[in-house]
Amino acid sequence: MSLLNVENLHAGYGPIEVLKGISLKVGPAEIVAIIGANGAGKTTTLMTISGGVRARAGSISFEGRDITQAPAHEIVRLGICQSPEGRKIFPRLSVRENLEMGAFTRSDQAGIRQDIEQAFQRFPILQQRQSQAGGTLSGGEQQMLAVARALMGRPKLLLLDEPSLGLAPMIVLKIFDVIRELNREGMAILLVEQAARMALKLAHRGYVMETGEITMSDEAARLLDDRRVQEAYLGE
Ligand SMILES: Nc1ncnc2c1ncn2[C@@H]1O[C@H](COP(=O)(O)OP(=O)(O)OP(=O)(O)O)[C@@H](O)[C@H]1O
Ligand SMILES: [Mg+2]
Repeated sequence: MSLLNVENLHAGYGPIEVLKGISLKVGPAEIVAIIGANGAGKTTTLMTISGGVRARAGSISFEGRDITQAPAHEIVRLGICQSPEGRKIFPRLSVRENLEMGAFTRSDQAGIRQDIEQAFQRFPILQQRQSQAGGTLSGGEQQMLAVARALMGRPKLLLLDEPSLGLAPMIVLKIFDVIRELNREGMAILLVEQAARMALKLAHRGYVMETGEITMSDEAARLLDDRRVQEAYLGE
């Protein structure tokens, strides 16, 4: 059974329909990439799954439970956590407080402290910066914090929106290493990326999205080999 099952999903903003009936699945311990041009609806897809944008039609289920109309905090509690596009760090809160915010649905203080320590092990720079205001971190540090904050919800499914955007290659490699490691530990990951080649090399399966529709869906290796994907998204 799929962990996440999105069927015929429609969503948009005011009079504009952005998602025109998309369907996708993420299986347990699977890395799935969504690639597509600017404005295709990738962020809207993740935001609708995490409850920030309302579905207008279609359904989203997680572990067999219908979450289409569930409130965002309930979706986090069920195990879907998101690192949003643009990171959305709380600029005035310290690094440690930002991490605590990621655990807002939890009340197990000892577990939360333990998970903060684990975040510091994964991203040692965050430990060094733990008392510094989030808004004063570099872009790469903010991206690590955004991922670490999402992990504080102990996700079964991690949604990552453009984790590589604007970062130096070294930091991108670090973040992709962490994604691979989380997946090896059993976490499912739905990854939206402009860096299509890297995303498809990391992912097991991928979807191509064009103007609110899924136009291709296949194993990632096959998408990498596909002439249309190469021309449109891999610059070949
Ligand atoms: N809050 C909003 N209000 C109105 N329209 C929006 C809003 N957010 C996104 N849109 C529109 O929805 C469409 C899809 O946007 P979305 O952010 O989902 O695309 P994307 O695939 O993530 O693009 P990018 O690669 O640039 O991040 C775009 O035409 C965008 O202008
Ligand atoms: Mg986007």
